[in-house]
Amino acid sequence: MSILDRFSLLNRTALVTGGGSGIGQALALALADAGADVAIADINSAGAAATCAQIENLGRQTLAIAADVTAKDQVENMVHTVLAAWGGLDIGVNSAGIALRGPIEDISEADWDRVLDLDLKAVFLCCQAEGRAMLQRGSGSIINVVSISSHIVNRPQQHGHYNAAKAGAYQLTRACAAEWAVRGVRVNSISPGHTLTPMTAHADDETRNAWLTNTPMGRLGVPADYQGAVVFLASDAAAYATGHDLVVDGGYTLW
Ligand SMILES: NC(=O)c1ccc[n+]([C@@H]2O[C@H](COP(=O)([O-])OP(=O)(O)OC[C@H]3O[C@@H](n4cnc5c(N)ncnc54)[C@H](O)[C@@H]3O)[C@@H](O)[C@H]2O)c1
Repeated sequence: MSILDRFSLLNRTALVTGGGSGIGQALALALADAGADVAIADINSAGAAATCAQIENLGRQTLAIAADVTAKDQVENMVHTVLAAWGGLDIGVNSAGIALRGPIEDISEADWDRVLDLDLKAVFLCCQAEGRAMLQRGSGSIINVVSISSHIVNRPQQHGHYNAAKAGAYQLTRACAAEWAVRGVRVNSISPGHTLTPMTAHADDETRNAWLTNTPMGRLGVPADYQGAVVFLASDAAAYATGHDLVVDGGYTLW
């Protein structure tokens, strides 16, 4: 088997949360391009349908699943839908997320709950439901999209709730990896740097310029920058990698 064969995802099934937009969409298309059938779960049904149409164009099977991943019953139904259609789940990518802003002294309890519900609790619910399905078969790869904000206090924007949630998701990834390693399920994460997606579209010029000047490569990320990372972590090429966080940030966390 050649090294490139070990990156192939032919005959694998995948599920991508938040696959209707931005980074999740790019990750889903990469998995399909590498050979996988890919289900898209998103609260935005139109976005999910648009990604599914692109997956079909790549010649792969797909499913659009309407799900709010902060709700346990909807997460369980999401995984059940994939199992019912395809008989098993090989790859779970958890990318759904939000970023709210605000100095810590002004963050409302409602905003704290909203960010923690989606950026941390939902990652737990998805890992649990995906992990249970994978543990039954003794194989699988889960990839959580966390952030450089898992590791650093980002600037100039202030978002203590986002930093806390992403750091939690990073450590949850490691806990899942440690518990499930001997049972055939790998769990890793990707930490993107500042990336041009709808999530960052509202950033003002001052913020965007600060990100740019603090990125050694001198450019912001685009969703395609994470496609190689997800195919690697999903595939047999990463068979001995678990609990790893793959930082892909143009060098931002070097300075
Ligand atoms: N854009 C960046 O600079 C950046 C940097 C680091 C990490 N990230 C992380 O990458 C991930 C994707 O972000 P993005 O920039 O592509 O954002 P995005 O807004 O383009 O995509 C987020 C997707 O999540 C979906 N979603 C939101 N709430 C949901 C819910 N309750 N249930 C199901 N789906 C829901 C949205 O509909 C959307 O399709 C997030 O976890 C984000 O924190 C983004």
